[in-house]
Amino acid sequence: MKRFYIETFGCQMNVHDSEKVVGTLLARGYQPVDSAAEADLVLYNTCSIRDKAEQKVFSRLQQFKRENGQGKLFGVLGCVAQQEGERIFERAPHVSLVCGSASYNRLPELLREVENGGRRVTGLSLETEETFETPVTRRDNPHRAYLTVIEGCDKSCAYCVVPFTRGHERSRASESVLAEARELAQAGYSEIQLLGQNVNSYRDPSPAGWDFAALLDAAGRTPGLRRVRFTTSHPRDFSPRIVDAIDRNPVLCNHVHLPVQSGSTRVLERMRRQYTREDYLERVAWIKGSRRDIALSTDIIVGFPGETESDFGETLSLLDEAGFDSVFSFKYSARPNTPALALSGHIPDPEKGRRLAILQERQRAIQIRRNAALIGRVEEVLVEGFNAATGQWIGRTAQNRILNFAARDGATLAGACLPVRVTRAGPNSLVGDLI
Ligand code: 5AD
Ligand code: SF4
Repeated sequence: MKRFYIETFGCQMNVHDSEKVVGTLLARGYQPVDSAAEADLVLYNTCSIRDKAEQKVFSRLQQFKRENGQGKLFGVLGCVAQQEGERIFERAPHVSLVCGSASYNRLPELLREVENGGRRVTGLSLETEETFETPVTRRDNPHRAYLTVIEGCDKSCAYCVVPFTRGHERSRASESVLAEARELAQAGYSEIQLLGQNVNSYRDPSPAGWDFAALLDAAGRTPGLRRVRFTTSHPRDFSPRIVDAIDRNPVLCNHVHLPVQSGSTRVLERMRRQYTREDYLERVAWIKGSRRDIALSTDIIVGFPGETESDFGETLSLLDEAGFDSVFSFKYSARPNTPALALSGHIPDPEKGRRLAILQERQRAIQIRRNAALIGRVEEVLVEGFNAATGQWIGRTAQNRILNFAARDGATLAGACLPVRVTRAGPNSLVGDLI
């Protein structure tokens, strides 16, 4: 019996890739185990979006120098694998497999090579028209399923490794996506989350030729599904038709994640984002103009090369103007191969840290206000689990807020959709009473 252990870093796309990789391994007769120590095959599915994420994989690999890694096979998958390629074998000679996400369809063949004693086995080509589809996908969450609609990215944001690690855009045929949605509903999933690095630049390769709004609309009509989400949207490709689709169908969650990155048009231009502050605010107006109350979240990078105090001030004022429900914010991290490396005006780390803290403090106050406004409202939650430390169930609202609540009887509520009245609000979550 061959035993494997896989650890996953990074975004939902990576998490879902790992679910498909696990399916591939199970089909080859591997058994999952709970720790690297027990495994014959140890895989790390890696992220290189920021330097810190990349460092993690090398520190993991250091833990298994030849001594305690004896008899084990090691593989590095994902974005660090694609980015570093064969260099990984130099830094970590006990690794025998390096494979990027664009080559996962070749995994059965690559695994066979490794099992037969192959050293330095690689899957590093980015030249593919395919998406990674597997007969078996072992999903981690019993209620919410990820579903890939598009892989890769054709944008070229100046700071971003993704075009170099995940290759160019490949959309799945709409019928294949919808068939998987139907299967998931039949298997009992309440929620699906449509995934793509740039999900709304979806273009159906089949004759139907749907755009993302059409696909979303159809996915939302899958019998049996309670919720459909999607991530991540690029402002450039965000159309009012997406808002129309959400307006029409309550199964489509009233939440849009729309990364802005900066509130300064000058910085956006240097980032090659292909929209201005005004374009972004126009999209916010579409979203806020919905008949439904659509929550809005975003990503922001502070300290991009050349960002002045005044540019940063524009990002702060955008927080107020857009009224985000949540913000993921990051210090700019210089990444290999990216065009931003060549820009002037790189900003010292302590200054980036100062800006990040100011931004986060400003947003925290906004979230406290926005969440407090929900007190008294009844929200439907999908129950994700139980927090033994607080004695509360953890629910998620359609707007993607965490809403915790206590329940009297001991029956398990995980996976249920329940109405909860909000009674208290913090910056990052809500507390309520089950109705
Ligand atoms: N430095 C810092 N943050 C980055 N992101 C992407 N690339 C970088 C980088 N080089 C952030 C962006 C993106 C999110 C997933 O990660 O905000 O939307
Ligand atoms: Fe990390 Fe980006 Fe790769 Fe996702 S696509 S794993 S965020 S580098």
